Amino acid sequence: MALADGELSTEQLLEAQAHVWNHIFNFINSMSLKCAIELGIPNIIHKHGKPVTLSELVNALPICKSKSQYIYRLMRVLLNSNFFIKVNISNEDEDEERYWLTPSSHLLLKDASLTVAPFVLLVLDPVLTKPWHYLSEWLADDHHLSPFKMTHGMMFWEYAQHEPRLNNLFNEAMCSDTRLVTRVLKNYKTKQVFEGIKSLVDVGGGIGTMAKAIVDAFPGMKCIVLDLPHVVAGLQGTNNLTYVEGDMFQTIPPADAVFLKWILHDWDDEHCVKILKKCKEAIPAGKGGKVIIIDMVVGIYEGGAEAMEDQLFFDMLMMTLLNGKERSEKEWAELSLDAGFTGYKITPVFGVRSLIELYP
Ligand SMILES: C[S@@+](CC[C@H](N)C(=O)[O-])C[C@H]1O[C@@H](n2cnc3c(N)ncnc32)[C@H](O)[C@@H]1O
Repeated sequence: MALADGELSTEQLLEAQAHVWNHIFNFINSMSLKCAIELGIPNIIHKHGKPVTLSELVNALPICKSKSQYIYRLMRVLLNSNFFIKVNISNEDEDEERYWLTPSSHLLLKDASLTVAPFVLLVLDPVLTKPWHYLSEWLADDHHLSPFKMTHGMMFWEYAQHEPRLNNLFNEAMCSDTRLVTRVLKNYKTKQVFEGIKSLVDVGGGIGTMAKAIVDAFPGMKCIVLDLPHVVAGLQGTNNLTYVEGDMFQTIPPADAVFLKWILHDWDDEHCVKILKKCKEAIPAGKGGKVIIIDMVVGIYEGGAEAMEDQLFFDMLMMTLLNGKERSEKEWAELSLDAGFTGYKITPVFGVRSLIELYP
């Protein structure tokens, strides 16, 4: 039951106000993070090789000198959100606080092999943030499949096709995520999932980062990357890696296994069943044929409250940008059954994401 004004104690009232303010201003954490990456703050500190003072940081930043005075305020927010830590080094010459990196800011280093910086820059790009302003309007509207479509007049994939800047940003972001996933994949017994597979098609495999990692790990395997023409056009394959331009709703090349990373969460159930039926046609019935999926299973995750909230955020992201969704185990089981598969196995191995195998 809702409390009337007079029933709130002063403490409750102030706590409630702080809670609301915190949620209003949460976007400032996101935008400060974006700013830090754009200015290259993590890279500057990393290059320095030891904790950096504010003046050393300011001198290295590509900013107008008259703006130097603002940097400690930006750093204060980033310290508060644990992207940097303060280290006090006292010696005869100085008694100045210094900033150093945390495990999270190591992931923000531009051009590092395990960076998520491109993903941050994609998700916080104005093209992707604008649709959030239309969420309530979209819910009241009967015409558009997503707030993204309502905002930009076309679906995300069409936009990427016509906008090379967004296309590159998107492909780079996907690549960075895949590099991280392949690193985790190597650490886990999930490598076994790929044992014995002689041919694999990575559907919606982007520019082939995952496929390259798979053929490196399993040199005997032949891999095909299927994606839309604007993604794979002009990409050069190798002996055991081929790029195919195509539409997964039309045809998927035959292979022992089909791999789908971050594909099905982009689509509603109806489209997912169509994709999965095409996958089933592409693999042998029995004889070890299977579909291997990397996606979230809502409610299954390693980690605490942040991981749980990440799953909720991703689900809203999929709804806002793509008309997709993150699914619970029950929803995955239904999809699998509707597409004609006889069994599935979920292995939670990627923090908030799982490896899902479907058997024909
Ligand atoms: C979220 S991205 C995932 C990319 C890659 N699997 C990864 O995780 O890095 C979805 C991919 O599906 C591709 N895609 C979208 N519609 C497609 C279609 N009809 N046929 C084939 N690929 C498609 C996109 O171009 C994009 O590369």
